[in-house]
Amino acid sequence: MKRDSFGSRFGALVAMAGSAVGLGNLWRFPYLVGENGGAAFIIVYILLSFVICLPIFVSEFVVGRKSQQNAYAAFRDLSGGSAWKWVGMFTVIVPLIVLSYYSVIGGWSVEYLLKSMTFTFTDTDTRTTMGTMFTDFVSSTWMPIIMHTAFLLTTTLIVMVGIKDGIEKFSKVMMPLLFFMVLAIAVYSLTLPGAGRGVDYLFKPDFSKIDGHTFAAALGQAFFSLSLGFGTIMTYASYVDKKENPLFQSTATAVSDLMFALIAGVAIMPAVFAFGLNPQSGPGLVFETLPYVFSQMPAGGVIAIAFFMALLVAALTSSISMLEVAVAYLVEEKGLKRVSASLIVFAGCWVVGVLCSLSFGPLSGVKIAGLSIFDFFDSISSNILMTLGSLMTVLFVGWRLKKTDIYDEFTNGGTLSANARMFGVLWFLIRYVCPLAIIVVFVSGLI
Ligand code: ALA
Repeated sequence: MKRDSFGSRFGALVAMAGSAVGLGNLWRFPYLVGENGGAAFIIVYILLSFVICLPIFVSEFVVGRKSQQNAYAAFRDLSGGSAWKWVGMFTVIVPLIVLSYYSVIGGWSVEYLLKSMTFTFTDTDTRTTMGTMFTDFVSSTWMPIIMHTAFLLTTTLIVMVGIKDGIEKFSKVMMPLLFFMVLAIAVYSLTLPGAGRGVDYLFKPDFSKIDGHTFAAALGQAFFSLSLGFGTIMTYASYVDKKENPLFQSTATAVSDLMFALIAGVAIMPAVFAFGLNPQSGPGLVFETLPYVFSQMPAGGVIAIAFFMALLVAALTSSISMLEVAVAYLVEEKGLKRVSASLIVFAGCWVVGVLCSLSFGPLSGVKIAGLSIFDFFDSISSNILMTLGSLMTVLFVGWRLKKTDIYDEFTNGGTLSANARMFGVLWFLIRYVCPLAIIVVFVSGLI
């Protein structure tokens, strides 16, 4: 049977961008900017995104498209059946871990979309009541689980339908919508009195704020945001036509991901400053600070709906890419039907997600390495697992595969002259700069 694939260049592009653009851009990026000193963090983030992460992205793209198989088989077959296949297995398992807790936050977006649609945020609310509303919700037992279930089930249904008819169609409709929604909120946010201080915060760097931790936080965020080191880009690339340009597709995804993060920053920070609030409110920024901002601003009810709808759509286009990694593996390696494979992955992620969700309430006393279950998964994923996955991918491409094979895939058999000219630099980055930089940044974050 012919393997399913993306049906058009635009479809492949929006699906890749959809995988990248997600909670990482709208939820994680703004609060990390807040916690790490604003503009200085953004500059480090941009530098690392293009010098380190773009070559890793291209590496994943090239491996995936060359093999035209799931991530496990890509590592296994391109390395001639060696132990590298375990790296492939690692990249199949990590997205399941990420999806499990990601889906809990996806569920929070569903809840907050419903809250905004029923106009729950009112101008008599204070920042404190919004905080209490959020804490009461996440620490309760059933509602977060119901929302997590709704989110994960929607993800599963889209993946079940397939690549062209499910993932691609969904992304084609939702990504442009997402873009316009976030852009409209950003424009509106800029018109608020006092917005200028938020813009300064985002774009006027204070270099004294940069240290090893800034680099570690920025690199972890770039891995998370570009979906690197956990099989998703590799799997999506395996569905991309051989005629497409790997450099163009990778750069277009990295640029869109950065644009979305910056626009999200512009949508959020000026509004936060306009209401005299603290941008350093961590993960609660989007679910506590913003609802308060929405409750106070003119037309805030509509803006709140647009924002939480955008958050949900962004989360879904990413979660489908994570689920697809394991589904592709089960279908191609274990011979399962797409529907059964999707349901099995759903069940596994659902159980782990429930534990993550309960770790805000009934299971808050359970600690792994001193962290709650949710924090443990979040922290090991972006700080360790994605770093490890990315490191192993560049080592695989730069040191295990043949340079001529990578050149052929990257230049479509030598036919893309611009790519051919860029190859020397790319190869140097993949082979030497990326592995070293990943190790140095990782270690500097620990000390
Ligand atoms: N890349 C996805 C995100 O940013 C995981 O949310």
